[in-house]
This record gives sequence, structure tokens and C-alpha cells, in this order.
Amino acid sequence: MFRFLPYVGGGNAPQTSDVTRQFNRKKNRNIFRATSYDRGGSSSDDTPGVALNDVVLSHSYIGAALRWSSRFITLQELSCAGFHRDCGMLLDETPLFEPSLLQEIDWCNNTVAFSPPISPSSPGEGLVLRPLCMADYNRGFFKVLSQLTKTGDVTPEQFAKKFEHMKSTGDYYVIVVEDTNLGQIVATATLITEHKFIHSCAKRGRVEEVVVSDICRGKQLGKLLVTALTLLSKKLNCYKVTLECAPKNVAFYQKFGYGASDETYMQCRFFD
Ligand SMILES: CC(C)(COP(=O)(O)OP(=O)(O)OC[C@H]1O[C@@H](n2cnc3c(N)ncnc32)[C@H](O)[C@@H]1OP(=O)(O)O)[C@@H](O)C(=O)NCCC(=O)NCCS
Repeated sequence: MFRFLPYVGGGNAPQTSDVTRQFNRKKNRNIFRATSYDRGGSSSDDTPGVALNDVVLSHSYIGAALRWSSRFITLQELSCAGFHRDCGMLLDETPLFEPSLLQEIDWCNNTVAFSPPISPSSPGEGLVLRPLCMADYNRGFFKVLSQLTKTGDVTPEQFAKKFEHMKSTGDYYVIVVEDTNLGQIVATATLITEHKFIHSCAKRGRVEEVVVSDICRGKQLGKLLVTALTLLSKKLNCYKVTLECAPKNVAFYQKFGYGASDETYMQCRFFD
């Protein structure tokens, strides 16, 4: 994750922010501090510049920061790179999990009929199936989720923090379908793997938050998401995969081999 200090021109560029100091204290992060902008200035094309005098970033971005630190970069360039202007944060394209996992799903094991045929590597014209990335915050990810349940007002900082936590555990497989013409997320679903001592220290999978945008329903995307995650859970050696659903969706999930269990789903709900 990058953090930039906005530079508004004239005088000295801003110094290390409190946020950056906090990050500096975290020893397990790769920190690159670009010092080439101690003095202010403006970008060459007279658009507002951003001083890169304090940058906190993960290992994979050191190269990009070095490239950018050689001059001021414009807000337009930052915006293209997924920079969130309000919070000074780069919501980048780093995937939540290794994308090849989706491409390597053995689609021959699929038992659901797709007509016309679609698959994780060919989900349909202008569509891409891939892991969630941070930049999806700006591509309507929450708009889609809100068609399933209350999402609350999640800030970019909250989203980035949760994303990094999920990524670090390696147990969260949030997949999205992006309409590349619109640059918008149109469907999403999540597989979570849970670690057990039982069944010889096995893992189990849980499928959650399956939702297809109302403008895209009936195009087999729901079937694609559930099939992909069910086969992925098998590939990840889960001994079983489960989900909870409303009675009206039981018939939908039966298509994929899910059946009602003898167990009763119980919960204590603390807040919505
Ligand atoms: C349920 C949902 C994910 C289905 O997605 P979708 O993309 O519209 O569905 P698909 O086009 O992939 O599925 C089509 C097939 O499933 C069937 N189907 C779709 N919704 C169904 C339902 N609720 N119950 C039974 N069958 C259903 C269709 O009849 C069709 O059958 P066919 O392949 O035999 O022709 C979608 O309607 C949705 O997002 N709903 C709102 C959120 C929600 O309820 N999510 C589930 C949470 S448990």
C-alpha cells in the first residue's frame, strides 16, 4: 500500500505524516523513503503535483516508487494507478490470492450445464473472472455486495486494512466478475478455508456472499461463481464445503451438489 502526501505547491514539501510514522514502526514492512522532494515545485505540465517525500509501500512497489520518485507525478497519473484522492492511498491491482488458482481449476469436474459454455478463463464477452483486488473498491464492489445485504459505509482505509488482513491469512478467496467495458464489478462470491484438528488436521470450505448484479442475472454468472469456488475448495483439499442460504435459493445450490444437512444452523446475532 502506498501513502502519499499531497503537495499543493510552493515552499517545502510536507514532512513525514503521523500515519507514515506509525507504519515506520512496523518492522515487518519494506519501507522505501524517497527523499528527493525536500523542496517544493510543480509538475512539468502545470497540473497539481504530489510530493513523494514519504512513501510507505509493500515490497512489490519499490520499483514503481523509484520510477515515480524521479519527478513529480500528476493527480491524473495517480488516479490511473488507482490512487484514492480523499485518503491519499493507492488502491492497487494486487490480487487477494494467486490468480492462476482460478485458471487451474479442473473444469472437467464441473457437473453443471452451461449453455452457451463458459468457464473461469472465458466467462463471456467483455467479462473477466479473477481474484478481488484493492482497486475494485473504485469499481463498484460494494454496490454489488449491497444487493445481498447491508454493507455499511466502508472507507478506503477500512477496505485496505481488511484486504491486507485477508491476504495475509491466505484463507480468503474473494472472486469477482468484472465487466471490462464498464470497468465495473458485476458479480462476486467468497470461499473461506477454515483449519481443523479433526479429520487429520483437515480444512473445510465455506462459500459466502454470492451475488450477481441485478443487471447481469440470468447470464450464468451465479452458476460460474459457485461452480468455480466449489471446485476450488476441492483443489485446496477441503474435506467438505458448506454454505447457508435462504429457502428460496435451495434449488439453485442443489444444482452444484449441495444438499440440506441434518444439522441445524444456529446463531447469536450481536449486531447487523
Ligand atoms: C442467486 C443468484 C446468485 C443467481 O445468479 P444468476 O447469475 O442470476 O443465476 P445463473 O444465471 O447463474 O443461474 C441460472 C440457473 O439457476 C437458476 N436459478 C437462478 N436463481 C435461482 C433461485 N433463486 N432458485 C432456483 N434456481 C435459480 C436459473 O433458473 C437457471 O437455471 P438453468 O441453468 O437450469 O437454466 C442471483 O440471483 C443473486 O445474486 N441473487 C441475489 C443475492 C442472493 O440471493 N444470493 C444468494 C445468497 S445465498
